[in-house]
Amino acid sequence: MEKKKFYYIETFGCQMNVHDSEKIAGMLIDLGYCETAQKERADIIVFNTCCIRETAELKIMAKIGDLKALKKKNKELIIVVCGCMTQQQGMADLLKKRFPFVNLVIGTHNLDLLEEYVKSYTGSKFKSIVLEKEQEITENTKIYRTNHKNAFVNIMYGCNNFCTYCIVPYVRGRERSRKVEDIVREVEELAKENKYSQITLLGQNVNSYGLDFKDNKTNFVYLLDKLCKIKGDFKISFMSSHPKDFSNELIDFIASHEKMSRAIHLPVQSGSDEVLKRMNRRYTSSHYKSLVDEIYKKIKGVSLTTDIIVGFPGESEKDFNDTCDLLRYCKFSSIFGFVYSKRNGTPAATFSDQVPYKVKKERITKLFDLQHEIQRIELSSLIGKTLECTIERDEKGRFIAKTFNNKSIKLNGENYTIGDKKSVLVKEINKNELIGEIA
Ligand code: 5AD
Ligand code: SF4
Repeated sequence: MEKKKFYYIETFGCQMNVHDSEKIAGMLIDLGYCETAQKERADIIVFNTCCIRETAELKIMAKIGDLKALKKKNKELIIVVCGCMTQQQGMADLLKKRFPFVNLVIGTHNLDLLEEYVKSYTGSKFKSIVLEKEQEITENTKIYRTNHKNAFVNIMYGCNNFCTYCIVPYVRGRERSRKVEDIVREVEELAKENKYSQITLLGQNVNSYGLDFKDNKTNFVYLLDKLCKIKGDFKISFMSSHPKDFSNELIDFIASHEKMSRAIHLPVQSGSDEVLKRMNRRYTSSHYKSLVDEIYKKIKGVSLTTDIIVGFPGESEKDFNDTCDLLRYCKFSSIFGFVYSKRNGTPAATFSDQVPYKVKKERITKLFDLQHEIQRIELSSLIGKTLECTIERDEKGRFIAKTFNNKSIKLNGENYTIGDKKSVLVKEINKNELIGEIA
C-alpha cells in the first residue's frame, strides 16, 4: 500500500486568502494528499501570505525561517510560499537569498500552476513562478471548503482604486469580474448542498462588480438579483465595499430582499476630509455619513462595521478627532482599527510627514476605548429584548445565539443543537458581550 501523504496550509490575512487556501487544499487533495494540522507530519507545507501591513510580513518571515529545521529533518519536504507577499517586486529574489530551502515561490496571478508543479516535482531546488500580469480567470477550480456554515464565492479579483496607503492593487492586479453565469452556477451548487447558512461574495471592491464588462447592464445589484432568486435557506453577504460606489440602488435592494444579510462592512478609513483626500478615497466624511443615514433608515436592524487607519501621514490631532466624531455619529457595531503601516511602492510611503509610532499607538488605544464605550451603550439597549437567533458555536467552541444581523449572544449550558432557530432573551452584558437564555 502506498504511504499516505499530508499537506499543511497556513493562511495569513483576509477572507480572500482564506478562500485561496481552500482552492490550494482542493488541488492537493486531488493529488492524493490528506490534511494535517501538524507541520511536523506534513509532506508539503504551504504558507499563503499577506503583506497589507509590515507586522504581517515580519511575522511570516520569522515563520518561514522556522521551517529550516523541519526541512533538515525531512529532505523530501516540499515548502511553498504563495499569496500577496510573494507578488511584490523583488520579493522572490529576497526569499531566495534568505530562505534557499524553500522549494517554490508562487505569485497571486497563477496559483493554479501550483498543482502542475507538485505533480511534476522531482526534488528540485528553489524555484519561483511570479507572473507580472494578471491572467484570465480560471473556472472549475476544486474547492475544499473549511467553513461549514459560511461559503466564500469570488465574484471578482483585483482592485483599480489605488488608495495611496494600499499595496493590494500592486499584488492583486486590475479588476476582473467573474461571469454572472459562473457565479450563479457556483451558488446554485452550494444551495443544493443545503448546509451553508451564509454565502459571502468576495471581491476587493464588490460595488464595482461587472463594470469591466462595459455592457451597460451587468453590475453588482444585477448579480445580487440573480442570486436572490436561487432557492434555499441562506443569507447573502459581501465584502469588501467602497463607500464611493455604494449606491442607493444597492441600499434599496438589501432593504427589500430577505436573503440579503443585515450585516454590512463599509470601510471608511478616516473621518477627516483632508486625510481622505490624501488617501485618494474619493468621498468626503459627509458623503459617508449620508450613506450611513440611508442605511439605518431603510435597512431595519442593520449592523454596520468598518475599517479605520490611524496615523496616516500628516494626520493631525484634529484629523484624528474628526475620526472619533465619525465613530460617535455612525455607532458601528464593531470596528477593525489599524495603525498606518508604510508599504514600499505605495504613494503614501513617500509622504514626508509620517506620524511617530508613539502617537499612532496612543491614537489606536483611544480609538478602541471610544468604540468600546459606544458599543457598551448600544448593547445595553438590547437588555430585556427577545431576538430571533440561530444557534452556533463561536471560535472558542462555546454555544452562542446569532441574530440575523450577526450579533452574538452567549448562552450558558450545553443543551443546544447547532442550526436550531430560537427566540433568545438578552439578560445582561459582560465586558461588551451579550448574555442571554432561550425565551
Ligand atoms: N496600513 C494600515 N492599514 C492598512 N490597510 C490597508 N493598507 C494598510 C496600511 N498600509 C487596512 C485598511 C483596509 C484593511 C483591509 O486594511 O483599513 O480596509
Ligand atoms: Fe486597497 Fe483601496 Fe483597493 Fe481596498 S479599495 S483594496 S483599500 S486600494
